[in-house]
Amino acid sequence: FEFTPANLAWAKEQITKYPAGRQASAIIPLLWRAQEQEGWLSRPAIETVADMLGMAYIRALEVASFYFMFQMQPVGAVAHIQICGTLSCMICGAEDLIAVCKEMIADKPHTLSADGKFSWEEVECLGACTNAPMAQIGKDYYEDLTADSLRDLLTRLGKGEVPQVGPQNGRFAAEPLGGIT
Ligand code: FES
Repeated sequence: FEFTPANLAWAKEQITKYPAGRQASAIIPLLWRAQEQEGWLSRPAIETVADMLGMAYIRALEVASFYFMFQMQPVGAVAHIQICGTLSCMICGAEDLIAVCKEMIADKPHTLSADGKFSWEEVECLGACTNAPMAQIGKDYYEDLTADSLRDLLTRLGKGEVPQVGPQNGRFAAEPLGGIT
């Protein structure tokens, strides 16, 4: 793995923001940029970042594997689907969404679909509990999902369409709910 020249210059700039001896503090932005470049974090990418920061590979791996914003396996070319499986979403139907992912993408998480377009995983609370159940698709939130609306989203994304992000039932949390002022 090598950063592109532009990404390498950006990474070096990040490192200069920290005091001497504290370069390891730049690990998250550098890992993020490596993931942006490759789509996921391969071992060579993590090694490159660790070397740039003077860290042992295992220390960089500890950080990369702790956060689910970092992908440790290849992800779908169109999108990686993260289904929230925490309490509010689970009560409101996350299991139905996971069933759709198994049906339309792959039986097991972190596995590419047959056409390579999608992958999925279950993650912890993404902070959009008021619009449960929800999923992060790529960098966007899709909320108030049902099995049917998730099926529709995946079909449209697979065709190259860009569906409207946010609540999929027209509900917006910022608006007063019926009967509540
Ligand atoms: Fe799913 Fe919080 S429980 S977003």
